[in-house]
Amino acid sequence: MRPQPSVESILQILNFGSLNVDHVYSVKRFVAPGETLDADAYTVFAGGKGFNQSIALARAGARVAHAGCVGADGLWLRDELTREGVDVEHVRAVDAPTGHAVIQVDPAGENCILIHGGANQSLTTDHIDAALASLSGEAAVLVQNETNLLHEIIDRSAARGLHVILNPSPLNDAIERAPLERVDTFVLNRAEGERLSGESSPDGILSVLRARHPRAVIVLTLGEGGVRHVDGTGEHSAEAESVQAIDTTGAGDTFTGYFVAARVHGESVPRALRIACRAAALCVQRPGAAASIPVRGEL
Ligand code: RIB
Repeated sequence: MRPQPSVESILQILNFGSLNVDHVYSVKRFVAPGETLDADAYTVFAGGKGFNQSIALARAGARVAHAGCVGADGLWLRDELTREGVDVEHVRAVDAPTGHAVIQVDPAGENCILIHGGANQSLTTDHIDAALASLSGEAAVLVQNETNLLHEIIDRSAARGLHVILNPSPLNDAIERAPLERVDTFVLNRAEGERLSGESSPDGILSVLRARHPRAVIVLTLGEGGVRHVDGTGEHSAEAESVQAIDTTGAGDTFTGYFVAARVHGESVPRALRIACRAAALCVQRPGAAASIPVRGEL
């Protein structure tokens, strides 16, 4: 069994992730099957779980490189990453439409998201290897589940001894086929935890995942129930802040980026959890995904 690369020694993060154009509709309630509903407002935002997490990492002060694909219609997303200080050497333009999401947001701030992967499904093993080869010094790889080749990203990163952080979102069969035994840190929400573990309570989820992945750090976010963190040394938790949410889109991405950045910066687990909860609380009080991610100074 390979030794687990320590998170505190990491200098940079390579994020293999999606870049989406988010079409966001404010609705009084989610549209029902067979129904046509008027939206109260429509806005286009930059998004994608990968994009949002790179922005969160950068705004939290981490050194981050993004690897992914956009079509000609999404080059502005690459420009946005550049403006935020993210290294985009491995964001490639491909001959496919940029990924997009159709998002309904209701008055409680809850959302319903439909995604089309588009260019996000164009990663190749050459692309993955080129991005990994460009890393120098201690690095972590972060990945979600909105691109193709998840299995290869995890395998090839772990083979290089890199710390692999998986946010298994959105959860589908690709996650269940992935080499999860090679993941060092999981950041997942309750629904993902339930599906992966077959358990419904947070205790049950954590206990099954710990037994299955004894080497890994598991960070389970519980929405208003806060967050729990378990690893080989014990358990920590943090409470969620009580705020009036207007749009929860991107809150999980904000949490992930801020938590990873805080740990890489040497913050203790309890403090990293509190920082990430604070960042997510600020995010839900503003509209949009990446647009709502706070900068470090706001915390
Ligand atoms: O996590 C939020 C993101 O999920 C949105 O930005 C949307 O693009 C979908 O990928």
